[in-house]
Amino acid sequence: MTSPVYVALDTVDLDSAKAIAARVRNHVGGIKLGLEFFSANGPDGVREMAALGLPIFLDLKLHDIPNTVAKAVQALHPLQPAILTVHAAGGRAMMEDAKAAAPSGTRVVAVTVLTSLDDDDLAAAGVAGGVEGQVERLAALAREAGLDGIVCSGREVAEVHKRWKQGYLVVPGLRPAEAGNGGSVADQKRVVTPRSARDAGASVLVIGRPISRAEDPVAAARAIEATL
Ligand code: C5P
Repeated sequence: MTSPVYVALDTVDLDSAKAIAARVRNHVGGIKLGLEFFSANGPDGVREMAALGLPIFLDLKLHDIPNTVAKAVQALHPLQPAILTVHAAGGRAMMEDAKAAAPSGTRVVAVTVLTSLDDDDLAAAGVAGGVEGQVERLAALAREAGLDGIVCSGREVAEVHKRWKQGYLVVPGLRPAEAGNGGSVADQKRVVTPRSARDAGASVLVIGRPISRAEDPVAAARAIEATL
């Protein structure tokens, strides 16, 4: 079975991204590259990472008028990403055009509400009803627009999975409950482990620092793999 884990390599440094990816490649299912990596290394950097043989998740969170996003997605064609993100807040037409412009093998998934935002931030921007309501509305919109799925937190994934069984659900912000920490992580209600996110219906588990910053990234990736 292919691993659902995509290792997030949030760095501007191509060599260190390659070094970590090369080490953990047999214990993860893919590589997630975001704006930080893309801004520094561009499409050529992505190609170098893809040469390692793992699927690429391009987390560019595109958000602009439909025509601009569609053109950007077309320009990404040669990279053949396995997964590409857009912002659901860009609206239905933008999401439809993004999906239509993507390669057939690319899953286009929508970011609903950034995990850095809370109810007060949304209220300040004129969005009433809090994060949960907004995630629900935007998830429904993404589905109607024909996207493959959404990005959501480990706390929301069970609810979204209930409503959208075929949805491709990408879950970041996970923390493994390693042996040796006295179970403290598992005891914290707000920390979701890779296993519990998987059990709740996650299709993809995005894991960054717990692997990339581990003293031994291979051991960390293997330990996570063993829990799944
Ligand atoms: O925290 P970690 O290094 O595992 O983060 C991996 C990825 O998950 C980041 O690239 C970021 O996009 C995403 N993330 C998130 N919400 C969080 C933490 C991380 O969306 N609370």
